[in-house]
Amino acid sequence: MFAERIKNRLLNWHNAGLYRKPVEINKRQEKYLFTGNRKVLNFASNDYLGLSVSEKLKQKVSRNFLKYSTSSSSSRLVAGNYSVINRAEKEYARFFGYEDAIFFPSGYQANLGILSAFFEKNDLLIFDKHIHASSVKGMLLSGADFHGYNHNSMSHLCRWLEKFRDNQPAVLTESLFSMDGDFLDVQGFKALKERFGFFSIVDEAHAFGVAGKNGKGIARDAADIGVGTFGKALGFFGAFVLLPAGFKEYLFNFSSPLIYTTALPEAHAASAIDILDFISQCEKKRKHLREISSFAKTSLVSEGFCVKGDAHILAIEIGDEGRTLEISRKLLKKDIFVLPARYPTVPLHKAILRIGITALHTEEDIKKLVSTLGLVQK
Ligand SMILES: Cc1ncc(COP(=O)(O)O)c(C=O)c1O
Repeated sequence: MFAERIKNRLLNWHNAGLYRKPVEINKRQEKYLFTGNRKVLNFASNDYLGLSVSEKLKQKVSRNFLKYSTSSSSSRLVAGNYSVINRAEKEYARFFGYEDAIFFPSGYQANLGILSAFFEKNDLLIFDKHIHASSVKGMLLSGADFHGYNHNSMSHLCRWLEKFRDNQPAVLTESLFSMDGDFLDVQGFKALKERFGFFSIVDEAHAFGVAGKNGKGIARDAADIGVGTFGKALGFFGAFVLLPAGFKEYLFNFSSPLIYTTALPEAHAASAIDILDFISQCEKKRKHLREISSFAKTSLVSEGFCVKGDAHILAIEIGDEGRTLEISRKLLKKDIFVLPARYPTVPLHKAILRIGITALHTEEDIKKLVSTLGLVQK
């Protein structure tokens, strides 16, 4: 019965145009991926600054792994609480302007780990309907009640806040949305925070390293807790949560996804410290990324595409799942790699082609993307 259910679900998924099969990558070379016998231009990466292919960073990370052991071999709560990890966390808190910080093995785990620990039954969470799946799972795990507001609609958020004024809700959002590519209305959000006094958690996974002064993100003034991941602009792996004083101690005691997992190794923490220097020195890359992203949006719009996105993530609205998949397949045949984002990653029948632009891309690359898209979508 169980095997039958799995088979049927996959079949239905196929029929609805929602089936996923990851493309196997043989090798990566800067902005190119090698798959099958093709060399394809990669527009599906979150390596926004190209740091993960930086020779200098690779050398630093290699040296750190030679210096330290390959694994922490234990949870933070047992024998994995190394000094260098605590030092790195302090440096992250200082760099991003918070009182404290804690590392998690991944951003997914970080959102599960904080939401399930900080909130409980009878609490109320109000969230932007387009927040990441990990935050949604974290809310479910917490047992709290939750209500979504329309994506980036401060007036809808305000209505919920007025309705639930007595419940002291907390509010969850992203600062740069992973699929829509638009920025949070930070001023509007901050004004509501000041008016209603809510506690806020802002996931800056796609902004840290790239957006704001020195890559410090855009939402510090509106966030009590900030979530960042190393796996995007920071060119590494794992995640960090930026916290008010006293919250780290609470997570050590009550966050199951943190307590019952192996800590990231010392070499990770040492490399994380090195990465802060890289981020500080990336101003030219950030400028190029802003310019090339704006060029991409303008070019796509003038070719008649419906495009959302304010920065290095652009969402070309297609709608139908099957058609979105078809266009991405045709693009791949023409050596361009783009993610066809479909339900449940985005709402049903609102499928998009998600364009991830990095500082490795040039104007020529963008022109190639736009002209090839023009050809294949006919
Ligand atoms: C907004 C957001 N938060 C969290 C995550 C999860 O981060 P990680 O890849 O480190 O698990 C992602 C990654 O897709 C994301 O887009």
